[in-house]
Amino acid sequence: MVQVVLPNDANALGFILGGTVMHLIDIAGAIACHRHTRTLLVTAAVDDLHFLHSIKVGDLIILKARVTCVFTTSLEVRVDVFSEETLTGKRRLTSQAFLTFVAVDRNGAKVRVPPLVVETDEERRICEEAHRRREERLKRKQTS
Ligand SMILES: CC(C)(COP(=O)(O)OP(=O)(O)OC[C@H]1O[C@@H](n2cnc3c(N)ncnc32)[C@H](O)[C@@H]1OP(=O)(O)O)[C@@H](O)C(=O)NCCC(=O)NCCS
Repeated sequence: MVQVVLPNDANALGFILGGTVMHLIDIAGAIACHRHTRTLLVTAAVDDLHFLHSIKVGDLIILKARVTCVFTTSLEVRVDVFSEETLTGKRRLTSQAFLTFVAVDRNGAKVRVPPLVVETDEERRICEEAHRRREERLKRKQTS
């Protein structure tokens, strides 16, 4: 997803609002998950989110979302956020987020997600890491 940062998205310093970035992360993650599941979805969790650099008005905000692993009714997606200066093309990673979505039907009942084709060693490693993150976030949920 690519958008230009407009003054309406910005704080008094001319940088995009954190909340706007979070909204775009949610949307980009949901789109990737919808394209995998072709079901309705709810956001169950967003892991720690850090804003490494600010993105100024006039720059582009680029969000790349990729499903990393599917579980039973839930799936994890990674969203990488970049800024790109329109005049120079200089691109910087500004955030990386992991979100969990749960697939639901029209009555809100949870439904199974289709399997994810994991082919390469890299994809297998990413999915194994997702399993570890899932365990950690479910532990955190229990203690919160
Ligand atoms: C997310 C939600 C569907 C989970 O419902 P629940 O009855 O607690 O679900 P369960 O414990 O049966 O878990 C269902 C799945 O969600 C996963 N899950 C639930 N809470 C989670 C969390 N905080 N983080 C990661 N995964 C979570 C479970 O691991 C399970 O996955 P699996 O089927 O792949 O094993 C429910 O809490 C909900 O509807 N929350 C509100 C969602 C919403 O409105 N989001 C928008 C922002 S408010």
